Amino acid sequence: MKDIVETLRSGAGREFINLSAGNPLILPEVEQLWRDCTADLLASTEYGEVVCRYGASQGYQPLIDAVVDDFNQRYGLQLTERNVLITPGSQSLYFYAANAFGGYTADRTLKKVVLPLSPDYTGYGGVALTPESLFAYKPALDIDAATHRFKYRPDFSQLEIAEDTGCVLFSRPCNPTGNVLTDDEVQKIAALAAPYDVPVLIDSAYAPPFPALNFTAMTPLFGDNILHCMSLSKAGLPGERIGIAIGDEQLIQVLECFQTNMCIHSPRYGQAIAARAIRSGALADIAANVIRPFYQAKVQIVEATLDQAMPDVPWFLHRGEGAIFTWLWLKNLPMTDWEFYQELKQVGVIAVPGSSFFPGLRDEWEHTRQCLRISLTGSVHELETAMKRLATVVERVYQLSERNQQPAVTA
Ligand SMILES: Cc1ncc(COP(=O)(O)O)c(C=O)c1O
Repeated sequence: MKDIVETLRSGAGREFINLSAGNPLILPEVEQLWRDCTADLLASTEYGEVVCRYGASQGYQPLIDAVVDDFNQRYGLQLTERNVLITPGSQSLYFYAANAFGGYTADRTLKKVVLPLSPDYTGYGGVALTPESLFAYKPALDIDAATHRFKYRPDFSQLEIAEDTGCVLFSRPCNPTGNVLTDDEVQKIAALAAPYDVPVLIDSAYAPPFPALNFTAMTPLFGDNILHCMSLSKAGLPGERIGIAIGDEQLIQVLECFQTNMCIHSPRYGQAIAARAIRSGALADIAANVIRPFYQAKVQIVEATLDQAMPDVPWFLHRGEGAIFTWLWLKNLPMTDWEFYQELKQVGVIAVPGSSFFPGLRDEWEHTRQCLRISLTGSVHELETAMKRLATVVERVYQLSERNQQPAVTA
């Protein structure tokens, strides 16, 4: 967000605890893995072939083979090389899909890009060249008032997937909320889409087997109309831009053609080191044993600090089921999320106003202005300090509004 960048840049000597970042932290073990894979590539005869030559649009063959073998073995699938596409980051995948499957057809019918559960990844907001094709649905709220927790669920009484749907897209685990749609919910969405041959893209940027940023059990799901979309960005390789789509051969081919026209193929250096990390099993191992516990511990710190410090107002933290964020809902917040963000800045804390995370939602809903995304990329000390300061700001703004609502006392 522009204001966050400008605030940090022009800090004028002020120290901010920046909890806005979506950039993963550099964990030493993860960096070492990529260094080792790079050293191995440099020492091999493969190096020239990797960086001095063009390759196939679908991706670098050793990486495709490593993905096929890993997923077949891990999940008992029967993938072949035709079921995999490597892209320059997973963001490009959503751009290809939104415009290949969504948008206007030759006879001017609008094919929708359906986001079944809003809020979701803000990056979906710009993927459709025809912005009017993006349609998001308000969720149902599962609230546990006693523990100050809540969870979004798809509202199947509202969700429409029909002939005019081009594709369906959602993140699981979800950025910004940390929500993990249950296996049943995902299967229900895929089943709604199946009769219309609508592809369902499951954005698995935080899912197992890598980066494995799920803190609750979840099974990656595959099926005829499911495109399982992965990213190596949160597994320590955001700079190398690697996205991986796994799915039906015909769907993969559509996306591959789009990629050929767009950029010929993904850069191959990152693909070559990723092939090594996946083939050896080291990436899945580090994801489960280093990356996941690191961020899971941070969720617990945010939860414990807020539980202890928050005043008696209707606040609800989304269940911390995955990703690198927590999501706070301040019900009846007496100002907008943007104004609250400005108040937080005054106490040296930066988090992202939640209203940025409702792309495609057309309904007026006050909830969109009552939330905040808190990144788990802060240190333990920073998270504790920031949550305590946040609690004091919450107390002040709710109290001020209460005072303003009381009738004036006259002498
Ligand atoms: C849910 C989600 N999907 C996709 C992306 C984009 O990832 P990539 O770096 O693979 O393009 C992000 C990045 O933060 C994300 O949070």
